[in-house]
Amino acid sequence: MGRLDGKIALVTGGGSGLGKSAAIHMAEEGASIIVSDINLETATETVETINKARQGAAIPVKHNVTNEDDWNNVLALCQNHFSELNILLNNAGISIGGDIESTEFETWKKLQEVDVDSIFWGCKLAIPILRKAKNSSIINISSTVGILGNPLTLGYGTAKAAVRSMTKSIALHCARHKYNIRCNSIHPTFIKTPLLKRFADAVGGDEEKAYDTLRSLIPLGDILEPRDVTYGIIYLASDESKMMTGSELVIDGGLTCGYMPPI
Ligand SMILES: NC(=O)c1ccc[n+]([C@@H]2O[C@H](COP(=O)([O-])OP(=O)(O)OC[C@H]3O[C@@H](n4cnc5c(N)ncnc54)[C@H](O)[C@@H]3O)[C@@H](O)[C@H]2O)c1
Repeated sequence: MGRLDGKIALVTGGGSGLGKSAAIHMAEEGASIIVSDINLETATETVETINKARQGAAIPVKHNVTNEDDWNNVLALCQNHFSELNILLNNAGISIGGDIESTEFETWKKLQEVDVDSIFWGCKLAIPILRKAKNSSIINISSTVGILGNPLTLGYGTAKAAVRSMTKSIALHCARHKYNIRCNSIHPTFIKTPLLKRFADAVGGDEEKAYDTLRSLIPLGDILEPRDVTYGIIYLASDESKMMTGSELVIDGGLTCGYMPPI
C-alpha cells in the first residue's frame, strides 16, 4: 500500500527541482498527479518519468501561478480528468536576492506576485474543490528565510514570511468551517536544486565551493537533497498527519534552532 493511494495531487512548479522530486515521490506513494509549470516542456518531462513507472498516473499542464484564469483552467482540468482534488502543493516560486537599499521596486513586486499572490489564488480557488474530497491537504512551500532575518533576502524573505502567516489563517478558516482541509507550510533550508545552482553561480562560479560555504552554516553540516523535503511533503499530504494544521514543518539541519558557538 502506498501512503497516498487514491489521492489526486496538483503540484505547481513540477518541472524542476523540489516540485519535480515531490511529484515523482508522491506518485511512487500511489497518488495521481497534475504536474503544472509555467514551462510545459519540463512539466512534460516530469510526467514522462512518472508514467514510465505507472502509465496514466500523471498529466502535464502549462500554468502561470500568478494568473487567475490559468488557475481556473488547471483546477477544471483536475476535476475533468481525475474527478476530484485532495492535495494542493503550492511549490512554484522564484528567488531574487537583494537588500533594502539595492532592491528595485519592480523586483520586490515580482517576488510578492510569484511567491505570495500565487498561493492566495491557489488556495482561494482550490478550497471549494478540496472541500468536496475526503481529507484534503494544502502544503505551502516557504523557507527558513520566512522565519529568520537575512539582510540579503529582503523581498524573498518577506514573501516567504507572508506564506507562513497566510498558511495559519487558511488552516484556521478551514477548521472553523469544518471543511476537512488541512493547511501547513514547509520551511526548508538550502536544497540542491537548479534554483540553488543559479544562486551559487551568481556568487562566484565555483559551485562546490559555494555549496561548502552553505554547508558550513548548517549545524548538521550539509545542505538538503530534494528527498529530505519530499518525505515531509508525503507526511503532510497523507492521512498520517490528520491532526496537523497551521503548523510549520522546519527541515533545516538545525539552522533556525539557535546559535552554534564557534568553540
Ligand atoms: N532551493 C532551495 O534552496 C530552496 C530553499 C527553500 C525553499 N525553496 C522553495 O522551494 C520551491 C521550489 O524551488 P526549487 O528550488 O525547486 O526551484 P527551481 O527553480 O528548481 O523550480 C521552480 C519551478 O517553478 C517554476 N515557476 C517559476 N515561476 C513560475 C510561475 N510564475 N508559474 C508557474 N511555475 C513557475 C519554474 O519553471 C520551475 O520549474 C520554491 O518555492 C522555493 O522558494 C527552495
